[in-house]
Amino acid sequence: MPRSLLLLAGLLGALALLAVVGDLAMRDTTRRWFERDVDLRSRLAVGAARQSLEQQWSSDPAGVATTLRDITRDERIMGAAACLPEGKTLATTELYPREFSCRLVLERRRQEEGSLEHWTLSTELPSGPVLLSVLGVGAPPGSLGEVVLVHDLSFVQRRDATTRRFLIASYFVLALVTSLVTLLGARFAWRRWRREMLRAFSGEGRREFQPLVRDVRALLDRLAHEHGHEARGGSWSPARLRETLARYLEGERVVILANREPYIHDKTDNGVRVLHPASGLVTALEPVMRACSGVWVAHGSGSADRDTVDAHDRVRVPPGEESYLVRRIWLSEEEENGYYYGFSNEGLWPLCHIAHARPVFRAEDWAQYQAVNQRFADAVCDEVDSDDPIVLVQDYHFALAPRMIRKRLPRATILTFWHIPWPNVERIGICPWREEILTGLLGSSILGFHTAQHCRNFIESIDAFLESRIDREANAIVQGHRRTLVRPYPISIEWPVHWLDQVPPVDECRRSVRAELGLPADALLGVGVDRLDYTKGIEERFAAVDALLAGHDELRGRFVFVQLAAPSRTKIPRYHELNERVEEVARTINARWGQGDYQPIRLLHAHHEPATVFRYYRAAELCYVSSLHDGMNLVAKEFVAARDDGLGVLLLSQFTGAARDLTEALIVNPYDTQQAANALAAALQMPESEQRERMLSMRRMVAEFNVYRWAGRMIIDAAELRRRERMADRLTSWRGALALEHP
Ligand code: G6P
Repeated sequence: MPRSLLLLAGLLGALALLAVVGDLAMRDTTRRWFERDVDLRSRLAVGAARQSLEQQWSSDPAGVATTLRDITRDERIMGAAACLPEGKTLATTELYPREFSCRLVLERRRQEEGSLEHWTLSTELPSGPVLLSVLGVGAPPGSLGEVVLVHDLSFVQRRDATTRRFLIASYFVLALVTSLVTLLGARFAWRRWRREMLRAFSGEGRREFQPLVRDVRALLDRLAHEHGHEARGGSWSPARLRETLARYLEGERVVILANREPYIHDKTDNGVRVLHPASGLVTALEPVMRACSGVWVAHGSGSADRDTVDAHDRVRVPPGEESYLVRRIWLSEEEENGYYYGFSNEGLWPLCHIAHARPVFRAEDWAQYQAVNQRFADAVCDEVDSDDPIVLVQDYHFALAPRMIRKRLPRATILTFWHIPWPNVERIGICPWREEILTGLLGSSILGFHTAQHCRNFIESIDAFLESRIDREANAIVQGHRRTLVRPYPISIEWPVHWLDQVPPVDECRRSVRAELGLPADALLGVGVDRLDYTKGIEERFAAVDALLAGHDELRGRFVFVQLAAPSRTKIPRYHELNERVEEVARTINARWGQGDYQPIRLLHAHHEPATVFRYYRAAELCYVSSLHDGMNLVAKEFVAARDDGLGVLLLSQFTGAARDLTEALIVNPYDTQQAANALAAALQMPESEQRERMLSMRRMVAEFNVYRWAGRMIIDAAELRRRERMADRLTSWRGALALEHP
């Protein structure tokens, strides 16, 4: 007999055996179902007649008989009997089977210790199976006697037989089809598998693994895409980010490397106070760290920072709700001058921003930058808890760290995010150490920028200055078997913003801020919130206010622009100059339009804690972000988050990354003073309905594209890259092993 027929017969035999066992089990089950069903019906029937039965029981046996007849109208109840407690029969229906006399039934129940309230017995009569339901009457049940109902279960048998015939027939048809399909499938797969294996182990086979790697990659690409899809749908929250981290990265702890620490401890006359620094980076990443926990490695820059750390230079934060660690690194004055003030902020910062500040590159700053990057990279490697950790390297202070970390931890997943713009090739070419900067960054697994333009600029820089292969389709730089993905990840803020829990509603903020500034209740307020930095266009902003007042005499005495300006990088001469210039411009404009107490520009030159900043956002008619060049600018998004009343107008420079996300803002060119002045006027005259429409649309955008999504997307991409690399590694070693076995 051919092998396939034998196989078919075997399969059918096994399936028949299964069918018989299944049928037996099934018969028992269906019988129990039906019994339960009829018993329930009888309880319902007696329950409904209980009151009349109890009334008739002692005085009206004929009435009891009539009630029993009513109960047995259900065709499946053969008969009913009313039994007195001592076993005498009070009444029966005509067809009640004599075999079940009251005495016998009650005795059996007693023997079996059945409940007086309700007991059942499944038994047989010559005519077929029956079920006895015995229900107590009176209170307590059984005190008057018991009602016995005899159910005919032969219908169950009939129905059972029909169902079984149908089921067995279907089962056999199904079994036959399954056997045939299995047989065909097995024959086909066996042949293919044999062919593949023969080819694999022949010389031809080794070449064939290449497409296999490609197939696996294509599959992973698809998965990545699907996960990407998933990431785009639904809202992102701390919980979802945590879940993503656990799902995709097996819960390893995250280590962030960023120069600025999220909490600064400062000495004051009244003890130590905690400051929240003015930094877009901190605004974005602190909520992410709260959600993920882990360690944030940063420069310990506060005057009381050393007093608040443990023996390992770590401190648990946020104060009062500790969920992650800050590991502080101490820098000498020389290191801080060279690495932070010098190379980072006099070199790279002006290099990357088109804001008319000449970058200064000093060899001694570069030497410090290299040494300090190494110190931070070493600290990161000390903080990780596995040999393939997740490290998030942040910003231009650490361009060299990714490669340094990679050297010590080759299997690490390093996500680097560049929070400022990446300039074009000509500009990056100015930097004497451009190759080192680029090579350092390529230690990353993923390199993120705010916009696609910054990604393109970076790839062009690589093309111009380094020897490496660019995979333009995948936007990746390939060096040997390692690749760095270059991707845009527009950063955002947490949603909802936790600071708003401490901020009063809009009306209250409007009132208190005006009172604080000594302004009348109907004053029109504009607000600007920045570090005092030359990239922020603060002089241009004031010039627009000047032009607004020049063209609108009705606004003089009524419109006030409040500038919250946090001191920043004050050791750098360019920042000093800016400070003086901004104060000078404000003075000039105030002198021109001010009268009595009225000063159109209020320059509040101090550090303001986030809760205060949010009060100002809520109090203002408009917020003007006039950056000359800005990677993203999170002030714009914070203003939108603050305005849960749906009002307020955002004026936004076209040179910010945020202008791509917040298209319902009034987008302006800050260099075009008249255009900006017109936009200020338009904002002050904008009907509330239009304000609401714009604001609600921007709020939806920021809520949806919040910072949890930003981090989640990077983590998902990193996880896919990591899986792909591991798969490729495994395939490489598999191929190696095969080559050894079959040279
Ligand atoms: C920008 C940078 C951040 C930096 C922030 C504040 O947003 O991208 O890295 O933290 O400015 O500057 P600072 O020098 O005070 O940290």
